[in-house]
Amino acid sequence: FPRAMSMLPKVYVTRKVPPDGLDILRKSGQVQFEMWDSDDPVPRVELLKKVKGCDGILCVLTEKIDAQLLDAAGPNLKVLSTMSVGFDHLSLDELKKRGIRVGYTPDVLTDAVAELTVALLLATSRRLIEATHEAKTGGWGTWRTLWLCGHELANSTVGILGLGRIGVAIAERLKPFKVKKFIYTDVEPRPELAKMIEAEYVSLDELAKQSDFLAICCALTPETHGICNWNLFSKMKKNAIFINTSRGGVVNQEDLYEALSTGLIAGAGLDVTTPEPLPTHHPLFTLKNCVILPHIASASYTTRNAMSALAANNLLAGLRGEPMPKELKL
Ligand code: DGY
Repeated sequence: FPRAMSMLPKVYVTRKVPPDGLDILRKSGQVQFEMWDSDDPVPRVELLKKVKGCDGILCVLTEKIDAQLLDAAGPNLKVLSTMSVGFDHLSLDELKKRGIRVGYTPDVLTDAVAELTVALLLATSRRLIEATHEAKTGGWGTWRTLWLCGHELANSTVGILGLGRIGVAIAERLKPFKVKKFIYTDVEPRPELAKMIEAEYVSLDELAKQSDFLAICCALTPETHGICNWNLFSKMKKNAIFINTSRGGVVNQEDLYEALSTGLIAGAGLDVTTPEPLPTHHPLFTLKNCVILPHIASASYTTRNAMSALAANNLLAGLRGEPMPKELKL
């Protein structure tokens, strides 16, 4: 006989997640779950109440999973599953201390994120947003020889800060644009990944100096926090295009503003900022050479559904005490 509903492990889902993940939870018959049935984040006070006594939590990247929340959840909590590849919103030490297992969603979003990174890079380097604005608002006079010129990928050097799955996928997509050379830096060389894209390992200084295009693909950690600062921008080429689809926290935005507004570098494309949303009066929005997207790198229907399905499967496996399809090593 199926166990009475009230006997099943209790799960709180902190957001209306895409249907594939919800179906998996519903059809599993393995959990009783409650969900914050909204596209907007659950208020913190509500969240702290709802997680009380839960065995599992399925969250998204806007929820801070810290000591306060874990204390509010209490000792039943065994599994935390985040519908994201990034985990900077989780206090890993606190989770580890309490023996709580963590699931996340790498791989399933790699293609979507790489695709969007290329789109953002091209939109920034070929000034597409500025160009459509000019066309729409009467700036389009006659054909002019240097009007709206940008920088091309052919014969360029592309730098990758943080070479993982996403960095490799970006390089694979950029190669057919006739990039001359890929270089990368990371805490240590990653020969296996680098071989896939024939990328050369260089220091952070050399990465800054040599890159015509610099893609930021690292996780946000205490080590990478603010790593893209004046020290880095001041070494970059005047024609360089800076692209960030990782986390806003890796960039010192004041320094980036200075670099862009003084022509130290040519342009920046950002899918992530600090804070999110970036207030509409933020100085970066005043710059023509800065393209800002509202954190949409993984936003394809297929990928967001795959992320929710993986998050659900991680949660269920964790609650069964089995290995998760994608478990974060703590
Ligand atoms: C993540 O998964 O961490 C992205 O930022 C959103 O898909």
